[in-house]
Amino acid sequence: MDLRHIFIKFAISNSASLTNQNPTTMKTLLILLISTLMISCGTATKPSTPVTYGESIELLQPDLDGGLPINRALSLRASSRDFSDAPLSLEELSEVLWAAAGVNRPDGHLTAPSAIGLYPVSLYAFTPEGVYLYSSADHTLTRVAEGDHRELSAAQDFAFVAPLNIVYIADLGKYNNKGIPREKAEYLCGQDAAGYAENVNLYAAGHSLKAITRGSLRSAEVLELLGLGEEHVVVLAQTVGK
Ligand SMILES: Cc1cc2nc3c(=O)[nH]c(=O)nc-3n(C[C@H](O)[C@H](O)[C@H](O)COP(=O)(O)O)c2cc1C
Repeated sequence: MDLRHIFIKFAISNSASLTNQNPTTMKTLLILLISTLMISCGTATKPSTPVTYGESIELLQPDLDGGLPINRALSLRASSRDFSDAPLSLEELSEVLWAAAGVNRPDGHLTAPSAIGLYPVSLYAFTPEGVYLYSSADHTLTRVAEGDHRELSAAQDFAFVAPLNIVYIADLGKYNNKGIPREKAEYLCGQDAAGYAENVNLYAAGHSLKAITRGSLRSAEVLELLGLGEEHVVVLAQTVGK
């Protein structure tokens, strides 16, 4: 039972006192009313845990009731090119990655679709504190490069201050023996990544964050930094922040 229901029950059970204008009852009702209104208006304090950027980051499970309704988020979705250096909280970082490619069913499938269910696209989170690889299965980030490499993850200045740049990298090896030419496989990987990215765009719109899907970045240098070979291809990037 949420606070609104408690308030209504309390008001009904105390309707006699209300008419008598009992000051204590009125004060309690007023506090309950204000709390209810704050929650209804979405102004209640939400948890905001700082991220500890160690070797690995245990991400939090998403709040499935958080954010704006999907149609409201759709009405607000727009690309941003103006970011501050304000960090994402652990709650926000966790939910951004879960929105992109988190497990959302017992069979291990993700929030976004993938051609032939292959899931060849990995997410690399470029942060001021290092580059991290996202594991959908474990919902964790593992550091794969130390230091701030955000300048490789974009070609536009706005991205270099933002707290999170996601680079989507496909492992074309997942298409081996599928009878699909490399060009077609690359195209399908791009489609997978676009789905991930749009989930993030909608999450951002629904949670007062900013985001932009990007095609521009220093792909060859990113692959070199991460030690990824010929079977890997950078398919998309994205900036997320405040
Ligand atoms: C695949 C893709 C790649 C994009 N690449 C870039 C980019 O490199 N830099 C940029 O500033 N915007 C980029 N954008 C954002 C588009 O410019 C933007 O979506 C478009 O102008 C429409 O604006 P809106 O997203 O606000 O509706 C990209 C969008 C998509 C879908």
